[in-house]
Amino acid sequence: MRILFATSEAHPLIKTGGLADVCGSLPPALKRLRHDIRLILPAYPAARAAAGKLKTVAEFSVAGSEQPVQILEGLLPKTRVKLYLVNSPLHFDRAGDPYRASDGRDWQDNHLRFGVFARAIVTLSLDQAGLDWKPQVLHCNDWQTGLAPALLTQHRDRPATLFTIHNLAYQGLFPRHAHEDLILPPEFWGMYGLEFHGQLSFIKGGLVYADHLTTVSPTYAREICSAQFGHGLDGLLNARAQHLSGILNGADYRHWDPAKDRHLSRRYNAEQPEGKADCKADLQARLGLEVNPHIPLLGHVGRMVAQKGVDLILSACEPLLAAGQAQLVILGSGDRALESHARAMAGRYPGAMGLHVGYDEALAHQVEAGADLFLMPSRFEPCGLNQLYSLRYGTVPVVRRTGGLADTVVDANAEHLEAGTATGLVFDAPTTEALSEAIQRGLALYQDHGTWTRLMGHGMRQAFSWDRSAQTYQDLYKKLVSR
Ligand code: ADP
Ligand code: GLC
Repeated sequence: MRILFATSEAHPLIKTGGLADVCGSLPPALKRLRHDIRLILPAYPAARAAAGKLKTVAEFSVAGSEQPVQILEGLLPKTRVKLYLVNSPLHFDRAGDPYRASDGRDWQDNHLRFGVFARAIVTLSLDQAGLDWKPQVLHCNDWQTGLAPALLTQHRDRPATLFTIHNLAYQGLFPRHAHEDLILPPEFWGMYGLEFHGQLSFIKGGLVYADHLTTVSPTYAREICSAQFGHGLDGLLNARAQHLSGILNGADYRHWDPAKDRHLSRRYNAEQPEGKADCKADLQARLGLEVNPHIPLLGHVGRMVAQKGVDLILSACEPLLAAGQAQLVILGSGDRALESHARAMAGRYPGAMGLHVGYDEALAHQVEAGADLFLMPSRFEPCGLNQLYSLRYGTVPVVRRTGGLADTVVDANAEHLEAGTATGLVFDAPTTEALSEAIQRGLALYQDHGTWTRLMGHGMRQAFSWDRSAQTYQDLYKKLVSR
């Protein structure tokens, strides 16, 4: 099948979060199933540099931009997946983050930037770029690609469209004038179109107009149809429930496997887990903690935003650090208030709390390997990848029962421990107390060497491979094409 896969991030080209992990792994998995899948992204400088050899294969103009757009063709590194980078220097030739200026504020012209991206996706989807290739399916991801399914409904001879929601909290909302700036058809305006309470919503382009919607776990697919998780879009999602399904993400064990992780000084696996102790000592030393094999080390890696519950981590862990019962390592960046809250606490517990504010790929791997327990008290979590990585690294995840966390971690209650199915600690309420209680249960198990080893081992043997998820996407594509 011919599939055009559109995204704003894909590892190792450009990454701010899990979207990149998924979009760097799912297309190669579909390629392994022998599909002609091609990836399309904006030509960010970082993506161009990481892609290596590129050649210009097309140039065309798009509505809403004075400059012509070029298509640079290459390969997604270390795969055979064909890559198209949409080159529009005015829009994408900027240093740093794909969405924000260095002062942390969104680029003021994000609507124009991702408008141009969507128009380029549409041009390729209709085989109007002169590439002599016409996809049967266009698979779009998140709001940055949302306008493409909407624009394609204006064309009869279009591919089937699938829109995947990785996070409903990010909607791509812009002032009303963006609708005119983008020269969108007037009939797209209105509550049954792209309008969301007086603003232009990019994500609605996908939610309203794509033939089918998926999200990244079955539980999140149900949750977003409720007011609690729907971010104001639950009514629309309910109306489209027949065309909404949840497909669980995989973990890419090419990059996330302690048996071959090049970021670790010593490698290990479920059969020979000894190397994990060295990784723990390395991590303690790197972040200035007391190097002690016996004290439990709690870890967290993630974007510092309300979603992830870093505030809960800080408040639940402070008494443990004060009492010398555990150490804490946090890697993340984002919300300035959360960052400074974390900094203040790290200052109070030198030697017991290690904090790195920033983005550090190698350290993310080292935290996964070096920690004993991994904390993910997310208020909502569409899928979550770090808990999957933690399982493979023998780092027992402590997660809130929501979204993909609920679908991937089995609580170590008496029954599951007895049955040998437990893989982590699961709790319900998004509160400091509930997280503290789950951590305490974890620390108690940690003291029982035999039980802990079995719990770790069972987690390490879980396989959330992309191959299975890719099969499910393939079945869905087939259904969409035959409709
Ligand atoms: P989300 O996509 O909501 O951020 P996921 O758990 O799906 O959450 O994926 C997060 C990905 O981003 C993981 O690969 C994680 O290691 C990575 N990540 C997040 N923050 C950082 C950081 N500060 N440094 C390095 N990697 C990070
Ligand atoms: C989003 C979600 C995260 C998910 C990732 C990849 O960023 O927050 O839960 O794992 O997308 O699908």
